[in-house]
Amino acid sequence: MAAKFLPSAVLGNSRLLVTLAGSGEIQRLFWPHVDGPQHVERLLVGIGVPGEPVIWQDDPSWQCEQAYEPDQNVLVTVARHPRGLAVRTVEAAVPDLDILVRQVTVTNAGRERLPVRYALYQWLRVDENPLHNTALYDEGSDSLVHYRRDVFVALGADRPLAAAGVGPSEAVLAAATAQDLAGTALILHGDVAAAGLWDLGTLAPGESAGLALFWALGSNIGQVRKLLAAARREGAEKLLAETRRYWAGWLRRARPLAVPGDGGEAAAPAPGRTALPGLAAEPAAAPARPALPGLPAQPAAPGQVAELYRRSLLVFKLMTDAGTGAVIAAPECDPAYRYCGGYGFCWGRDAAYVTVAMDRAGLHDLAGAFYRWALGTQEPEGWWMHRHHTTGQWGSSWGLIQTDETGSILYGMAVHARLHGGAAFAREVWPAVRRAAAWLLRNLDPETGLPRPAVDLWEERVGVHTYSAAAAAAGLRAAAELAGLAGEEAAGDQYRRAAEALRSAIWRECVRDGVFLRGRYLQIAKDAYLALRAAGEPVRERPGVLGRTLWERVWDPVMDASLLGLAYPFAVADPGDPVMARTVRRVVEALWVPGVGGLRRYEDDPYRGGNPWVLTTLWLGLYAVRAGDGDLARQILDWAVTRRTATGLLPEQVDPRTGGPAWVVPLTWSHAMYVLLALDLYGGREPRPAPVP
Ligand code: BGC
Repeated sequence: MAAKFLPSAVLGNSRLLVTLAGSGEIQRLFWPHVDGPQHVERLLVGIGVPGEPVIWQDDPSWQCEQAYEPDQNVLVTVARHPRGLAVRTVEAAVPDLDILVRQVTVTNAGRERLPVRYALYQWLRVDENPLHNTALYDEGSDSLVHYRRDVFVALGADRPLAAAGVGPSEAVLAAATAQDLAGTALILHGDVAAAGLWDLGTLAPGESAGLALFWALGSNIGQVRKLLAAARREGAEKLLAETRRYWAGWLRRARPLAVPGDGGEAAAPAPGRTALPGLAAEPAAAPARPALPGLPAQPAAPGQVAELYRRSLLVFKLMTDAGTGAVIAAPECDPAYRYCGGYGFCWGRDAAYVTVAMDRAGLHDLAGAFYRWALGTQEPEGWWMHRHHTTGQWGSSWGLIQTDETGSILYGMAVHARLHGGAAFAREVWPAVRRAAAWLLRNLDPETGLPRPAVDLWEERVGVHTYSAAAAAAGLRAAAELAGLAGEEAAGDQYRRAAEALRSAIWRECVRDGVFLRGRYLQIAKDAYLALRAAGEPVRERPGVLGRTLWERVWDPVMDASLLGLAYPFAVADPGDPVMARTVRRVVEALWVPGVGGLRRYEDDPYRGGNPWVLTTLWLGLYAVRAGDGDLARQILDWAVTRRTATGLLPEQVDPRTGGPAWVVPLTWSHAMYVLLALDLYGGREPRPAPVP
């Protein structure tokens, strides 16, 4: 079942990214980049009592609770078993060392004395590859080592191993479960697993014993041995304390959120002062009735609103690759593409929203690192490819050119220049901006003035999409702004005129019966084409490549949440314009899900059942702010708070039956939309733009 891929929590240090199940098992471990390679096939922890099989913690007989320490990338999992056992795990990736530290405390919660052992089984496929792996017991460092080529993973503890062994995955699991590893090998190659047992002694009722585990990652045996030695020298307490200090300091750099009533450090904004005009800073004294069914009747606790803002910033950092600056959409949860096309890649689309949120939250270094990465991944023709590995190579794809992504990256660059980088940044990125703007211009169809057909933002359809056209217009406008900052006045004028012409084309070509269309010239299957033609709908047929025929629907009337993007962020329509307002009303009528609340992406969305999405719903909130509907905006922000997972992360989609997370956790773009809306509502005054010299 797909849900087994979904993490409950995520830890990392921007080189190492770890996803964990609610029961505490490490599901995935990505290193040396946040998109991989991924090294864990299966990892189990459990408790062994003599004469009984190990009770692995993924067994449903355990009751588990999990939470992050507040404002920390430190995770606490408590597991209780009716056998009279309680296991408390505190873990984190150490910020400046590639070590995952897990501090375990096992308590005898029963009535009799109990001899206990901590058991661990790990089937690693280092480098995501079943071939040429080796697992061994490294006597010198008393650790379990797995390696393949230049990736080495060593697992050691602060107590000596009582027993250890390696071998084929099933045989080692059986031996570990039986607590009898004597018959296993001490070194073996192939698709191999390892297991270890640590004696924790005999615990009297109520007594606890501790064990610290350290996973060290490096590119050769010397490195991981050294890291393990350092970890043991420092000890888990100290490593965790340093980690906590790091994240507390890191969050302090960010712009605080001033939610009225929140007892946090941030000061409440002066009365009436919000980031955007037209909104009162304070919620109405009496809670407003839900503006849409499924929105919360009661406001979220101010502390929770602010906490999710800070959690979102922490997620941003974990999803940003330290080595390259790329930001991934989410930790990969479906590498075999069984249920989707995968998420552990960097998309220009997602990254633009994320970096604008970073910039507005004051995390300019992260945003800047992404744009520097983008300079190296631009195609020679000026566009940016569908998605990339963090290391800059093309990601696997089902549609290379998605026009909105190139527009979005330019848009984000202009925001970065405005809020932080100023003219120096504009000059630095100018060659890339010029290439991108030239491509956007070349890509316009002289007949319509709109971009040529490409894949839409949901990556499902080829056509001339209104959202993508708006992104291209915003990209050209951004290029004009950057040109101005870079002292390239003539180019700036040209792009400004082109942006305006594209805006007019959108209004001319993409409005029908007083509402925006999703697009024009949508490519459809021949059957659909014939059916529409028979029904008198305008369709057309034209030649494609290799002698193929393209079947197109001239007007694409499907209501789509992305039409919100015409107002925000791409500003080709005024939020209050009657056409825009009518379009939004139609979007809401067609896509709002009563009950659990939330906005679907578009009518008849088949992806994972067509659930409401967190980011589309927050997008409606971002629109509402700009249309002056503060109640709706605030209620939507509060709704997002209620849709966070048990550990406080935002998923991509919401289950329309339960309201719980339906797919992909955490989705960086969901967190970005939350940060943007939270800052609109409670961010106080927008930071001063960088001065233009
Ligand atoms: C969405 C895209 C998005 C990608 C990565 C897809 O499911 O349709 O809009 O860019 O995921 O988040």
